[in-house]
Amino acid sequence: MVDLAGKVAIVTGGSKGIGAEIAFRLADAGAAVAVNYASDREGAERVVERIGAAGGRAVALGADVSSESDVQGLVAQAVAAFGRLDIVVNNAAYFSFGPVEAISVDDYRRHFDVNVLGAILLTREASPHLTEGGSIINIGSAGVLNPMPNALLYAGSKAALERITRFLAKELGPRQIRVNMVLPGATDTEGNRRIGTLDNEAAVKALIEHTALRRFGHPEDVAPAVVFLASDEAAWITGTMLEASGGFS
Ligand SMILES: NC(=O)c1ccc[n+]([C@@H]2O[C@H](COP(=O)([O-])OP(=O)(O)OC[C@H]3O[C@@H](n4cnc5c(N)ncnc54)[C@H](OP(=O)(O)O)[C@@H]3O)[C@@H](O)[C@H]2O)c1
Repeated sequence: MVDLAGKVAIVTGGSKGIGAEIAFRLADAGAAVAVNYASDREGAERVVERIGAAGGRAVALGADVSSESDVQGLVAQAVAAFGRLDIVVNNAAYFSFGPVEAISVDDYRRHFDVNVLGAILLTREASPHLTEGGSIINIGSAGVLNPMPNALLYAGSKAALERITRFLAKELGPRQIRVNMVLPGATDTEGNRRIGTLDNEAAVKALIEHTALRRFGHPEDVAPAVVFLASDEAAWITGTMLEASGGFS
């Protein structure tokens, strides 16, 4: 039984989708959760209310993870709210897809600023607060494992985060802080609806064919892997990639 009582977590991009479910599950396991959002304050507040209604503790904190000052404020507010910090989930991400010919510099910067710099900034700011037993979980993508057209910025940013995860595990290991990555596959979220994936029959069919368990995933399929990696049940696991993807390849 996973027990996170007394622990404090920050979940970036917790206002919806996979991040919201991660926040619920961490709170269910007993952690107090700082639910970060960028633009969707109401979404984050709904998550906080649901956690509170179930007897948990949570606070909604706005911050753009690609902004240094916002991330400093996020960590300071989370620590002020709950007195410590044990678990960091770098879940916030930007994704859009298109051919190489259509890539703009802004597109590049947005992917790498949110998906890579954001995780680095939060890790840097959180690190001084983390103590023995601390856990950082980065959210990658199983899609990165199998090259596909039109995804190079997203895949490149998540591949960078994968390397960062492995290197950080070595760097923070001597302090008994673990760093791991969870890789979702095709998952039914608002983000995927925003970019039109779920309205595109051919795309849905192809993604399901790439998935061993032959369906789209849901945030509920992914979040338990994060809770496991955050817990002492995973005390000997660091620097690993855990696919929660229904066997996406
Ligand atoms: N859905 C999939 O099929 C899939 C597959 C593989 C991996 N993933 C990964 O799973 C994670 C969650 O994906 P999702 O589909 O749940 O995403 P989503 O529904 O699009 O939600 C994205 C979340 O990230 C937040 N966010 C975006 N930019 C941000 C920024 N600059 N600062 C802080 N927060 C920011 C959003 O906040 P606001 O709404 O408040 O603006 C929102 O809470 C991502 O890392 C994604 O790459 C998803």
